[in-house]
Amino acid sequence: HIEILRDPASLQAKIAHWRSQGQRIVLVPTMGALHAGHMSLVKEAKRLGDRVLLSIFVNPTQFAPNEDYAVYPRRLEADAELSTEAGADLIFAPTPEIMYPAGFATTISLTGPATAGLEDKFRPTHFAGVATVVAKLLNLARADVAIFGQKDYQQLQVIQQMVSDLAIPVEIVGAPTMREKDGLALSSRNFYLTVAERDAAPRLYAALVQCARDIARGETINKALANAMESVIAAGFVIDYIEARHAETLALVENSGEGPIRLLAAAKLGTTRLIDNIAV
Ligand code: PAJ
Repeated sequence: HIEILRDPASLQAKIAHWRSQGQRIVLVPTMGALHAGHMSLVKEAKRLGDRVLLSIFVNPTQFAPNEDYAVYPRRLEADAELSTEAGADLIFAPTPEIMYPAGFATTISLTGPATAGLEDKFRPTHFAGVATVVAKLLNLARADVAIFGQKDYQQLQVIQQMVSDLAIPVEIVGAPTMREKDGLALSSRNFYLTVAERDAAPRLYAALVQCARDIARGETINKALANAMESVIAAGFVIDYIEARHAETLALVENSGEGPIRLLAAAKLGTTRLIDNIAV
């Protein structure tokens, strides 16, 4: 069964041992409640390196006080089982006290993709929490590669920007979004959906697919987005945003000639907030 380490010292000893053998180490950071989306990252990690380190840490600093930190699913045993099956070599599962001991005083401050006006508009403290914990995980793991899902597209861009700006010696790899058969992006938060909400949930992705098709066929971006919003509202969602952005800078785009376009959406079904995105 897979080894679970809680303290940085034992993690660093293990990592140092692997590095001394010249092994290529790949980090997959997660908050646990693992599903097939996370497992696809582990499988990609195995392709890219010799050793796969999976971190599981429900990071308190990326949740706002009104968010779901307290109820976020925690199931380390099931996670360990899935990680073993997927071929991970080691789990690092620290406690909040280990990651943020008394006197912890540093937060990474971000602009660029972190202030694009998407997730940050609705979760203004979120990316500072993400960037700070990811920087610490990268420093502890000393991995050659770290893998993040395109599911959290703005997060991936934020981390790429941070790693580049701070010259953190790691290669960041983005991996495609895994979905249910009906298109719903796999997410630990899908566990919160009622049966009726779960039925309606795939209509967010369906609207993005239709919107991408419309734009590719020459429909104006504004009209295509308006249609998407209408169908997402009809499905019972309350929309935070559905937007077309430049795929690399996340800058606003008004017409499809302005470079690779990514459609990004966040919307609530009842109390559950879902996010998704696709390329045009
Ligand atoms: P978490 O939501 O657990 O996601 C861990 C990783 O899995 C992220 O890189 C995320 O993009 C990826 N992921 C989630 N759902 C996916 C899916 N359906 N297909 C493919 N990949 C998927 O994202 C976080 O945790 C945290 O913010 C973290 C980066 C760990 C920092 O705390």
